[in-house]
Amino acid sequence: MYSAKTALLGLAAWVVGTSAQSAVVLNNCTFDIFIISSPTNGGASTAVETIASGANYTEAYTTGSAIKVAANNTVESPLTVEYTPNGQAGLVYYDLSNNAGNPFADFNNVLAPSNSSCFTFNCAAGSAGSACYSNGGNIQVKACTITDLTTTVCAA
Ligand SMILES: *[C@@H]1O[C@H](CO)[C@@H](O)[C@H](O)[C@H]1NC(C)=O
Ligand SMILES: *[C@@H]1O[C@H](CO)[C@@H](O)[C@H](O)[C@H]1NC(C)=O
Ligand SMILES: *[C@@H]1O[C@H](CO)[C@@H](O)[C@H](O)[C@H]1NC(C)=O
Ligand SMILES: *[C@@H]1O[C@H](CO)[C@@H](O)[C@H](O)[C@H]1NC(C)=O
Repeated sequence: MYSAKTALLGLAAWVVGTSAQSAVVLNNCTFDIFIISSPTNGGASTAVETIASGANYTEAYTTGSAIKVAANNTVESPLTVEYTPNGQAGLVYYDLSNNAGNPFADFNNVLAPSNSSCFTFNCAAGSAGSACYSNGGNIQVKACTITDLTTTVCAA
């Protein structure tokens, strides 16, 4: 009984610890961007959120999401930030995918974990076809010790 309760408390602490992490999208473009987040567990997608120039979209870690980032409020052909935290492994898996499109292909786009020893995707302007983005069979997923992930569209 005691150990079950301790285990539950441990689990609760782990859940709280995990959900404290966030996935952020910083809109460094000079125009509004539009975001829909689709949980990878099949849950409902969020409503379209408008993020003004200079503002952040922030979501607490879920079981994992595809965060669709577009320059159009129909969120057509979005650049997609994909992340999946795995509490058991203590890792978060992440990539930038242009499978559905990339309205920011003419800009530098960066996906940076807060832990600077982990891999940062720094996709140069005009590199839409490069290995920086996951596309089709070209999967560029990296793993990091669970940490915040910040994607900057139209980065310097
Ligand atoms: C956006 O998020 C980044 C990374 O968490 C943070 O450094 C920055 O201060 C935030 N900016 C705004 C305007 O909230
Ligand atoms: C979004 O894109 C569609 C298709 O390209 C276009 O018809 C529509 O006008 C665009 N909407 C905005 C707000 O730019
Ligand atoms: C940062 O990431 C490295 C590599 O995954 C890991 O060894 C290190 O413990 C992490 N640091 C923190 C503070 O999580
Ligand atoms: C945002 O864009 C401006 C203008 O290009 C640049 O000076 C600045 O460093 C960029 N910020 C980030 C976080 O990339």
